[in-house]
Amino acid sequence: MVSIYKAKAKAQGPQHLTLTVERWDHEAQSIAYHDGKICFVQGGLPGETVKVKLNEQKPQYNKGKVQTVLNASPLRIQPACPVAGQCGGCQLHYVGAQDSLTLKQQAVAQLLSHQLKITDLPWQPALSAGNTGYRRKARIGIWYEKSTKQFQVGFRKEQSHEVLAVSECLVLSPVIAKVLSVLHDTLPKLKHGPVITHAEVFDADGQAYVIVRHIKELTAGDVELLRQSWPEAYWYGEAEPEQLTPWQANTPEPSYSLALSGREPLRLAFKAGDFIQVNAAVNQLMVEQALQWLAPTVDDNILDLYCGIGNFSLALAASGAKVLGLEGVPAMVKRARDNAKANGLANCEFAHVDLHLPWPKAAWNKPDFQKILLDPARAGAPGAVDEIARLKPAQILYVSCNPTTFARDAKVLLAKGYRIAKIGVMDMFPYTSHLEVMALFDTVRQ
Ligand SMILES: C[S@@+](CC[C@H](N)C(=O)[O-])C[C@H]1O[C@@H](n2cnc3c(N)ncnc32)[C@H](O)[C@@H]1O
Repeated sequence: MVSIYKAKAKAQGPQHLTLTVERWDHEAQSIAYHDGKICFVQGGLPGETVKVKLNEQKPQYNKGKVQTVLNASPLRIQPACPVAGQCGGCQLHYVGAQDSLTLKQQAVAQLLSHQLKITDLPWQPALSAGNTGYRRKARIGIWYEKSTKQFQVGFRKEQSHEVLAVSECLVLSPVIAKVLSVLHDTLPKLKHGPVITHAEVFDADGQAYVIVRHIKELTAGDVELLRQSWPEAYWYGEAEPEQLTPWQANTPEPSYSLALSGREPLRLAFKAGDFIQVNAAVNQLMVEQALQWLAPTVDDNILDLYCGIGNFSLALAASGAKVLGLEGVPAMVKRARDNAKANGLANCEFAHVDLHLPWPKAAWNKPDFQKILLDPARAGAPGAVDEIARLKPAQILYVSCNPTTFARDAKVLLAKGYRIAKIGVMDMFPYTSHLEVMALFDTVRQ
Protein backbone atom coordinates (compact mmCIF):
# COMPACT_ATOMS: atom_id res chain seq x y z
CA MET A 1 0.00 0.00 0.00
CA VAL A 2 1.35 3.34 -0.94
CA SER A 3 0.96 6.18 1.51
CA ILE A 4 1.17 9.67 0.23
CA TYR A 5 2.33 12.20 2.77
CA LYS A 6 1.56 15.80 2.22
CA ALA A 7 3.91 18.27 3.78
CA LYS A 8 1.90 20.37 6.25
CA ALA A 9 0.95 23.49 4.35
CA LYS A 10 2.83 26.43 5.72
CA ALA A 11 0.92 29.64 6.22
CA GLN A 12 1.36 31.48 2.96
CA GLY A 13 1.83 35.16 2.69
CA PRO A 14 1.96 37.79 5.39
CA GLN A 15 0.37 37.30 8.83
CA HIS A 16 -0.94 40.84 8.89
CA LEU A 17 -2.75 42.78 6.19
CA THR A 18 -4.06 46.31 5.90
CA LEU A 19 -7.55 46.09 4.41
CA THR A 20 -10.52 48.30 3.63
CA VAL A 21 -13.85 46.82 4.71
CA GLU A 22 -16.47 46.86 1.96
CA ARG A 23 -19.48 45.50 3.83
CA TRP A 24 -20.71 43.03 6.44
CA ASP A 25 -21.87 39.55 5.51
CA HIS A 26 -24.95 37.97 7.13
CA GLU A 27 -22.85 36.81 10.11
CA ALA A 28 -21.57 40.37 10.75
CA GLN A 29 -18.13 39.46 9.42
CA SER A 30 -16.40 42.29 7.58
CA ILE A 31 -15.73 41.54 3.93
CA ALA A 32 -12.55 42.91 2.39
CA TYR A 33 -10.35 41.88 -0.54
CA HIS A 34 -6.58 41.45 -0.79
CA ASP A 35 -5.14 40.93 -4.28
CA GLY A 36 -8.60 39.76 -5.34
CA LYS A 37 -8.91 37.19 -2.51
CA ILE A 38 -11.87 37.54 -0.14
CA CYS A 39 -11.03 38.11 3.53
CA PHE A 40 -13.51 37.54 6.39
CA VAL A 41 -12.61 39.78 9.28
CA GLN A 42 -13.99 39.98 12.83
CA GLY A 43 -14.35 43.40 14.38
CA GLY A 44 -14.53 45.82 11.44
CA LEU A 45 -17.13 48.18 10.01
CA PRO A 46 -17.91 49.09 6.40
CA GLY A 47 -15.65 51.87 5.11
CA GLU A 48 -12.93 51.31 7.72
CA THR A 49 -9.28 50.74 6.96
CA VAL A 50 -8.01 48.19 9.45
CA LYS A 51 -4.86 46.27 10.26
CA VAL A 52 -5.84 42.60 10.45
CA LYS A 53 -4.10 39.65 12.08
CA LEU A 54 -4.79 36.59 9.95
CA ASN A 55 -5.68 33.33 11.70
CA GLU A 56 -6.56 31.25 8.64
CA GLN A 57 -5.15 31.40 5.10
CA LYS A 58 -6.74 29.21 2.43
CA PRO A 59 -6.37 29.32 -1.35
CA GLN A 60 -9.94 30.70 -1.66
CA TYR A 61 -10.11 33.00 1.38
CA ASN A 62 -8.39 34.48 4.41
CA LYS A 63 -9.83 34.89 7.89
CA GLY A 64 -8.63 37.25 10.57
CA LYS A 65 -9.39 39.71 13.33
CA VAL A 66 -9.01 43.48 13.45
CA GLN A 67 -5.93 44.46 15.44
CA THR A 68 -5.83 48.19 14.82
CA VAL A 69 -8.41 50.51 13.32
CA LEU A 70 -6.55 52.97 11.09
CA ASN A 71 -9.56 54.94 9.96
CA ALA A 72 -12.64 54.49 12.16
CA SER A 73 -16.22 54.50 10.91
CA PRO A 74 -18.50 57.12 12.51
CA LEU A 75 -20.57 54.12 13.67
CA ARG A 76 -17.75 52.83 15.89
CA ILE A 77 -18.33 53.34 19.61
CA GLN A 78 -16.39 52.68 22.79
CA PRO A 79 -17.75 49.34 24.05
CA ALA A 80 -19.74 49.66 27.26
CA CYS A 81 -18.85 46.06 28.10
CA PRO A 82 -15.45 45.73 29.81
CA VAL A 83 -14.83 42.26 28.30
CA ALA A 84 -15.90 43.09 24.74
CA GLY A 85 -13.62 41.34 22.25
CA GLN A 86 -12.65 38.60 24.75
CA CYS A 87 -16.01 37.16 25.82
CA GLY A 88 -17.61 34.76 23.35
CA GLY A 89 -21.14 35.85 24.32
CA CYS A 90 -21.37 39.03 22.20
CA GLN A 91 -19.41 40.06 19.13
CA LEU A 92 -20.65 43.57 18.35
CA HIS A 93 -20.24 45.89 21.34
CA TYR A 94 -18.09 48.21 19.17
CA VAL A 95 -21.17 49.44 17.27
CA GLY A 96 -24.48 50.75 18.61
CA ALA A 97 -27.24 48.13 18.68
CA GLN A 98 -29.50 50.13 16.33
CA ASP A 99 -26.71 50.63 13.77
CA SER A 100 -25.68 47.01 13.96
CA LEU A 101 -29.30 45.95 13.40
CA THR A 102 -29.37 48.10 10.24
CA LEU A 103 -26.09 46.58 9.00
CA LYS A 104 -27.17 43.02 9.88
CA GLN A 105 -30.47 43.54 8.09
CA GLN A 106 -28.74 44.92 4.97
CA ALA A 107 -26.42 41.90 4.92
CA VAL A 108 -29.28 39.41 5.32
CA ALA A 109 -31.30 41.23 2.61
CA GLN A 110 -28.31 41.04 0.28
CA LEU A 111 -27.79 37.32 0.99
CA LEU A 112 -31.45 36.50 0.38
CA SER A 113 -31.80 38.64 -2.76
CA HIS A 114 -28.70 36.97 -4.15
CA GLN A 115 -29.64 33.41 -3.17
CA LEU A 116 -33.32 33.65 -4.07
CA LYS A 117 -32.75 35.88 -7.11
CA ILE A 118 -35.44 38.31 -5.95
CA THR A 119 -34.46 41.98 -5.87
CA ASP A 120 -37.66 43.41 -4.36
CA LEU A 121 -38.43 41.22 -1.34
CA PRO A 122 -41.45 42.59 0.60
CA TRP A 123 -39.52 43.72 3.70
CA GLN A 124 -41.56 44.67 6.77
CA PRO A 125 -40.29 46.75 9.74
CA ALA A 126 -37.74 44.94 11.94
CA LEU A 127 -38.83 43.75 15.38
CA SER A 128 -36.62 44.87 18.24
CA ALA A 129 -37.00 45.70 21.92
CA GLY A 130 -34.48 46.87 24.54
CA ASN A 131 -30.85 46.25 23.67
CA THR A 132 -29.54 45.45 27.13
CA GLY A 133 -30.71 43.14 29.91
CA TYR A 134 -32.57 41.00 27.39
CA ARG A 135 -31.22 37.49 28.09
CA ARG A 136 -33.66 35.55 30.26
CA LYS A 137 -31.53 32.42 30.33
CA ALA A 138 -27.81 31.76 30.31
CA ARG A 139 -25.26 29.08 30.97
CA ILE A 140 -22.61 30.21 33.40
CA GLY A 141 -19.20 28.60 32.92
CA ILE A 142 -17.22 27.60 36.01
CA TRP A 143 -13.55 26.62 35.91
CA TYR A 144 -11.57 25.57 38.96
CA GLU A 145 -7.84 26.10 38.52
CA LYS A 146 -6.19 23.45 40.71
CA SER A 147 -2.77 25.08 40.71
CA THR A 148 -4.07 28.36 42.14
CA LYS A 149 -7.19 26.92 43.84
CA GLN A 150 -9.21 29.67 42.25
CA PHE A 151 -12.57 29.66 40.47
CA GLN A 152 -13.27 31.45 37.19
CA VAL A 153 -16.99 32.26 36.84
CA GLY A 154 -18.21 33.70 33.58
CA PHE A 155 -18.67 32.83 29.92
CA ARG A 156 -16.61 31.00 27.33
CA LYS A 157 -13.94 33.06 25.64
CA GLU A 158 -14.34 33.83 21.97
CA GLN A 159 -13.67 30.68 19.88
CA SER A 160 -12.44 28.77 22.94
CA HIS A 161 -13.62 26.40 25.65
CA GLU A 162 -11.85 28.40 28.34
CA VAL A 163 -13.98 30.30 30.83
CA LEU A 164 -13.45 34.04 30.98
CA ALA A 165 -14.09 35.51 34.44
CA VAL A 166 -16.93 38.03 34.10
CA SER A 167 -18.29 40.08 36.99
CA GLU A 168 -21.14 41.86 35.18
CA CYS A 169 -23.00 41.33 31.94
CA LEU A 170 -24.95 44.01 30.06
CA VAL A 171 -27.15 41.66 28.11
CA LEU A 172 -28.17 39.41 31.01
CA SER A 173 -31.57 40.24 32.50
CA PRO A 174 -31.08 42.28 35.72
CA VAL A 175 -33.11 39.60 37.55
CA ILE A 176 -30.38 37.00 36.98
CA ALA A 177 -27.21 39.11 36.48
CA LYS A 178 -26.48 38.67 40.19
CA VAL A 179 -25.62 35.00 39.62
CA LEU A 180 -22.09 35.99 38.52
CA SER A 181 -21.12 37.66 41.80
CA VAL A 182 -23.04 35.11 43.90
CA LEU A 183 -21.12 32.16 42.41
CA HIS A 184 -17.83 34.05 42.38
CA ASP A 185 -18.12 34.86 46.10
CA THR A 186 -19.64 31.58 47.33
CA LEU A 187 -17.80 28.83 45.42
CA PRO A 188 -14.49 29.34 47.31
CA LYS A 189 -16.36 28.96 50.61
CA LEU A 190 -17.76 25.50 49.77
CA LYS A 191 -16.29 22.24 51.02
CA HIS A 192 -16.55 20.58 47.61
CA GLY A 193 -16.81 23.57 45.26
CA PRO A 194 -14.74 21.97 42.46
CA VAL A 195 -17.46 19.33 41.85
CA ILE A 196 -19.60 22.12 40.36
CA THR A 197 -18.95 22.34 36.63
CA HIS A 198 -21.42 24.98 35.49
CA ALA A 199 -24.76 26.58 36.28
CA GLU A 200 -27.81 27.59 34.31
CA VAL A 201 -29.86 30.57 35.23
CA PHE A 202 -33.38 31.66 34.22
CA ASP A 203 -35.43 34.78 34.63
CA ALA A 204 -38.93 33.30 34.67
CA ASP A 205 -41.07 36.46 34.48
CA GLY A 206 -39.07 38.18 37.20
CA GLN A 207 -38.26 35.13 39.34
CA ALA A 208 -34.65 33.89 39.31
CA TYR A 209 -33.91 30.16 39.08
CA VAL A 210 -30.42 28.63 39.31
CA ILE A 211 -29.59 25.09 38.24
CA VAL A 212 -26.27 23.91 39.64
CA ARG A 213 -24.64 21.10 37.68
CA HIS A 214 -22.35 19.00 39.87
CA ILE A 215 -20.48 15.80 39.07
CA LYS A 216 -20.47 14.48 42.67
CA GLU A 217 -22.92 14.94 45.53
CA LEU A 218 -22.78 18.26 47.34
CA THR A 219 -22.83 18.30 51.13
CA ALA A 220 -25.93 19.65 52.87
CA GLY A 221 -23.72 22.46 54.16
CA ASP A 222 -22.62 23.45 50.64
CA VAL A 223 -26.22 23.42 49.42
CA GLU A 224 -27.24 25.66 52.31
CA LEU A 225 -24.37 28.09 51.72
CA LEU A 226 -25.34 28.46 48.06
CA ARG A 227 -29.02 28.87 48.88
CA GLN A 228 -28.30 31.51 51.51
CA SER A 229 -26.00 33.39 49.13
CA TRP A 230 -29.09 34.29 47.08
CA PRO A 231 -32.23 33.38 49.03
CA GLU A 232 -34.60 35.12 46.59
CA ALA A 233 -33.66 32.63 43.85
CA TYR A 234 -35.03 29.10 43.55
CA TRP A 235 -32.13 26.63 43.38
CA TYR A 236 -31.92 23.16 41.89
CA GLY A 237 -29.07 20.65 41.88
CA GLU A 238 -28.55 18.53 38.78
CA ALA A 239 -26.21 15.60 39.44
CA GLU A 240 -27.29 13.83 36.24
CA PRO A 241 -28.65 15.56 33.13
CA GLU A 242 -32.38 16.17 33.54
CA GLN A 243 -32.41 14.89 37.15
CA LEU A 244 -33.26 18.09 38.90
CA THR A 245 -33.53 18.23 42.67
CA PRO A 246 -35.13 21.38 44.06
CA TRP A 247 -33.30 22.69 47.11
CA GLN A 248 -36.44 24.25 48.62
CA ALA A 249 -39.75 22.60 49.42
CA ASN A 250 -42.66 23.75 47.24
CA THR A 251 -40.48 25.16 44.46
CA PRO A 252 -42.91 26.38 41.80
CA GLU A 253 -42.24 25.38 38.18
CA PRO A 254 -40.54 28.12 36.17
CA SER A 255 -42.85 29.63 33.57
CA TYR A 256 -43.25 32.67 31.36
CA SER A 257 -46.33 34.48 30.15
CA LEU A 258 -47.40 35.59 26.70
CA ALA A 259 -49.86 38.46 26.46
CA LEU A 260 -52.70 38.04 23.97
CA SER A 261 -55.23 40.69 23.09
CA GLY A 262 -58.73 40.02 24.35
CA ARG A 263 -57.93 37.21 26.76
CA GLU A 264 -55.91 36.21 29.79
CA PRO A 265 -52.17 35.90 29.13
CA LEU A 266 -50.96 32.40 28.36
CA ARG A 267 -48.61 30.83 30.87
CA LEU A 268 -45.99 28.40 29.61
CA ALA A 269 -44.18 26.19 32.12
CA PHE A 270 -40.72 24.90 31.21
CA LYS A 271 -37.83 22.96 32.72
CA ALA A 272 -34.07 23.29 32.44
CA GLY A 273 -33.11 21.69 29.14
CA ASP A 274 -36.30 22.81 27.37
CA PHE A 275 -35.94 25.28 24.56
CA ILE A 276 -37.29 28.73 25.37
CA GLN A 277 -36.77 31.86 23.28
CA VAL A 278 -33.98 33.84 24.97
CA ASN A 279 -35.39 37.35 24.60
CA ALA A 280 -38.81 37.62 26.27
CA ALA A 281 -39.71 41.03 24.79
CA VAL A 282 -38.80 40.06 21.22
CA ASN A 283 -40.54 36.71 21.68
CA GLN A 284 -43.74 38.57 22.61
CA LEU A 285 -43.44 40.76 19.46
CA MET A 286 -42.57 37.73 17.33
CA VAL A 287 -45.62 35.73 18.47
CA GLU A 288 -47.84 38.81 17.92
CA GLN A 289 -46.47 39.24 14.39
CA ALA A 290 -46.96 35.53 13.63
CA LEU A 291 -50.61 35.90 14.69
CA GLN A 292 -51.03 39.03 12.55
CA TRP A 293 -49.45 37.50 9.47
CA LEU A 294 -51.19 34.11 9.71
CA ALA A 295 -54.48 35.60 10.95
CA PRO A 296 -55.78 32.30 12.39
CA THR A 297 -59.56 31.78 12.57
CA VAL A 298 -61.83 29.15 14.12
CA ASP A 299 -62.10 27.49 10.70
CA ASP A 300 -58.34 26.91 10.40
CA ASN A 301 -56.47 23.68 10.91
CA ILE A 302 -52.86 24.67 11.67
CA LEU A 303 -49.66 22.65 11.93
CA ASP A 304 -46.92 24.06 14.19
CA LEU A 305 -43.60 22.36 13.40
CA TYR A 306 -40.60 22.35 15.79
CA CYS A 307 -43.12 23.51 18.38
CA GLY A 308 -41.00 23.14 21.55
CA ILE A 309 -43.16 23.66 24.63
CA GLY A 310 -45.94 25.27 22.55
CA ASN A 311 -44.76 28.90 22.29
CA PHE A 312 -46.58 29.48 18.98
CA SER A 313 -49.06 26.57 19.17
CA LEU A 314 -50.89 27.87 22.23
CA ALA A 315 -51.14 31.42 20.87
CA LEU A 316 -52.53 30.09 17.58
CA ALA A 317 -54.99 27.82 19.41
CA ALA A 318 -56.18 30.74 21.55
CA SER A 319 -57.74 32.16 18.33
CA GLY A 320 -60.01 29.12 18.18
CA ALA A 321 -58.08 27.39 15.36
CA LYS A 322 -57.37 23.67 15.64
CA VAL A 323 -53.62 23.26 16.14
CA LEU A 324 -51.29 20.27 15.98
CA GLY A 325 -47.75 20.84 17.28
CA LEU A 326 -44.94 18.46 16.28
CA GLU A 327 -41.65 18.32 18.17
CA GLY A 328 -38.62 16.02 18.26
CA VAL A 329 -37.92 16.04 22.03
CA PRO A 330 -40.43 13.86 23.93
CA ALA A 331 -40.08 15.83 27.19
CA MET A 332 -41.06 19.04 25.40
CA VAL A 333 -44.04 17.31 23.74
CA LYS A 334 -45.25 16.41 27.22
CA ARG A 335 -44.66 19.95 28.47
CA ALA A 336 -46.56 21.37 25.46
CA ARG A 337 -49.52 19.06 26.22
CA ASP A 338 -49.48 20.07 29.89
CA ASN A 339 -49.27 23.74 28.91
CA ALA A 340 -52.26 23.44 26.55
CA LYS A 341 -54.26 21.77 29.32
CA ALA A 342 -53.23 24.28 31.98
CA ASN A 343 -54.34 27.11 29.66
CA GLY A 344 -57.69 25.44 28.92
CA LEU A 345 -56.92 24.86 25.23
CA ALA A 346 -58.59 21.60 24.22
CA ASN A 347 -58.17 22.43 20.50
CA CYS A 348 -54.38 22.00 20.66
CA GLU A 349 -52.68 18.61 20.34
CA PHE A 350 -49.07 17.53 20.17
CA ALA A 351 -47.07 14.59 18.82
CA HIS A 352 -43.47 13.47 18.94
CA VAL A 353 -41.96 13.33 15.44
CA ASP A 354 -38.43 13.58 14.05
CA LEU A 355 -39.25 16.00 11.27
CA HIS A 356 -35.95 15.35 9.48
CA LEU A 357 -36.78 11.73 8.77
CA PRO A 358 -39.33 10.86 6.08
CA TRP A 359 -42.63 11.78 7.73
CA PRO A 360 -44.48 8.78 9.18
CA LYS A 361 -47.80 7.40 7.99
CA ALA A 362 -50.06 9.03 10.55
CA ALA A 363 -53.59 10.35 10.71
CA TRP A 364 -52.26 13.93 10.72
CA ASN A 365 -50.00 13.45 7.67
CA LYS A 366 -52.63 14.58 5.15
CA PRO A 367 -53.21 17.77 3.16
CA ASP A 368 -55.72 19.05 5.74
CA PHE A 369 -53.85 22.14 6.96
CA GLN A 370 -54.61 25.61 5.65
CA LYS A 371 -51.64 27.08 7.49
CA ILE A 372 -48.28 25.70 8.60
CA LEU A 373 -45.82 27.43 10.91
CA LEU A 374 -42.25 26.17 11.24
CA ASP A 375 -39.54 27.37 13.62
CA PRO A 376 -36.57 25.03 13.20
CA ALA A 377 -33.18 25.18 14.91
CA ARG A 378 -30.11 26.50 13.04
CA ALA A 379 -29.99 23.45 10.75
CA GLY A 380 -33.24 24.61 9.15
CA ALA A 381 -35.82 22.15 7.83
CA PRO A 382 -34.06 19.90 5.30
CA GLY A 383 -36.54 17.40 3.90
CA ALA A 384 -39.32 18.85 6.05
CA VAL A 385 -39.89 21.70 3.58
CA ASP A 386 -40.61 19.15 0.83
CA GLU A 387 -43.09 17.38 3.12
CA ILE A 388 -44.70 20.73 3.98
CA ALA A 389 -45.13 21.60 0.27
CA ARG A 390 -46.66 18.12 -0.30
CA LEU A 391 -49.39 19.01 2.23
CA LYS A 392 -50.22 22.08 0.09
CA PRO A 393 -51.10 24.60 2.81
CA ALA A 394 -52.30 27.99 1.56
CA GLN A 395 -49.82 29.78 3.85
CA ILE A 396 -46.49 28.86 5.41
CA LEU A 397 -44.91 30.98 8.12
CA TYR A 398 -41.18 30.28 8.45
CA VAL A 399 -39.38 31.55 11.58
CA SER A 400 -35.62 31.15 11.18
CA CYS A 401 -32.56 31.70 13.37
CA ASN A 402 -30.16 31.09 10.48
CA PRO A 403 -30.47 33.08 7.24
CA THR A 404 -28.27 30.59 5.33
CA THR A 405 -30.48 27.54 5.96
CA PHE A 406 -33.56 29.74 5.53
CA ALA A 407 -32.32 30.70 2.02
CA ARG A 408 -31.78 27.02 1.17
CA ASP A 409 -35.26 26.00 2.38
CA ALA A 410 -36.96 29.05 0.84
CA LYS A 411 -35.56 28.04 -2.56
CA VAL A 412 -37.40 24.70 -2.23
CA LEU A 413 -40.70 26.41 -1.37
CA LEU A 414 -40.32 28.92 -4.23
CA ALA A 415 -39.65 26.07 -6.66
CA LYS A 416 -42.87 24.37 -5.43
CA GLY A 417 -44.95 27.39 -6.40
CA TYR A 418 -44.93 29.49 -3.22
CA ARG A 419 -43.96 33.16 -3.13
CA ILE A 420 -42.75 35.34 -0.28
CA ALA A 421 -45.66 37.61 0.69
CA LYS A 422 -43.94 39.24 3.70
CA ILE A 423 -40.51 39.07 5.27
CA GLY A 424 -38.91 40.76 8.27
CA VAL A 425 -36.02 40.44 10.68
CA MET A 426 -36.13 40.18 14.49
CA ASP A 427 -33.28 41.34 16.71
CA MET A 428 -33.48 38.55 19.26
CA PHE A 429 -29.80 38.94 20.26
CA PRO A 430 -28.62 42.59 20.16
CA TYR A 431 -24.80 43.02 20.22
CA THR A 432 -24.33 39.59 18.68
CA SER A 433 -23.90 38.57 15.06
CA HIS A 434 -27.23 36.70 15.06
CA LEU A 435 -30.38 37.86 13.32
CA GLU A 436 -33.69 36.01 13.09
CA VAL A 437 -35.97 36.07 10.05
CA MET A 438 -39.74 35.61 9.70
CA ALA A 439 -41.24 35.03 6.26
CA LEU A 440 -44.81 34.40 5.14
CA PHE A 441 -45.14 32.25 2.02
CA ASP A 442 -48.38 31.94 0.11
CA THR A 443 -49.35 30.30 -3.12
CA VAL A 444 -48.86 32.26 -6.30
CA ARG A 445 -52.25 33.26 -7.64
CA GLN A 446 -52.41 32.96 -11.46
C1 LIG B 1 -35.84 27.18 17.56
S1 LIG B 1 -36.60 25.99 18.58
C2 LIG B 1 -38.27 26.54 18.47
C3 LIG B 1 -39.20 26.05 19.54
C4 LIG B 1 -40.56 26.76 19.63
N1 LIG B 1 -41.16 26.98 18.34
C5 LIG B 1 -40.46 28.08 20.39
O1 LIG B 1 -40.74 29.13 19.81
O2 LIG B 1 -40.11 28.05 21.56
C6 LIG B 1 -36.53 24.58 17.56
C7 LIG B 1 -37.19 23.33 18.08
O3 LIG B 1 -37.03 22.30 17.09
C8 LIG B 1 -36.85 21.07 17.75
N2 LIG B 1 -36.19 20.16 16.79
C9 LIG B 1 -34.90 20.19 16.38
N3 LIG B 1 -34.69 19.21 15.47
C10 LIG B 1 -35.86 18.57 15.30
C11 LIG B 1 -36.28 17.47 14.48
N4 LIG B 1 -35.42 16.83 13.68
N5 LIG B 1 -37.57 17.08 14.54
C12 LIG B 1 -38.44 17.72 15.35
N6 LIG B 1 -38.10 18.76 16.15
C13 LIG B 1 -36.83 19.17 16.13
C14 LIG B 1 -36.02 21.43 18.97
O4 LIG B 1 -36.12 20.44 19.97
C15 LIG B 1 -36.63 22.78 19.37
O5 LIG B 1 -37.68 22.60 20.28
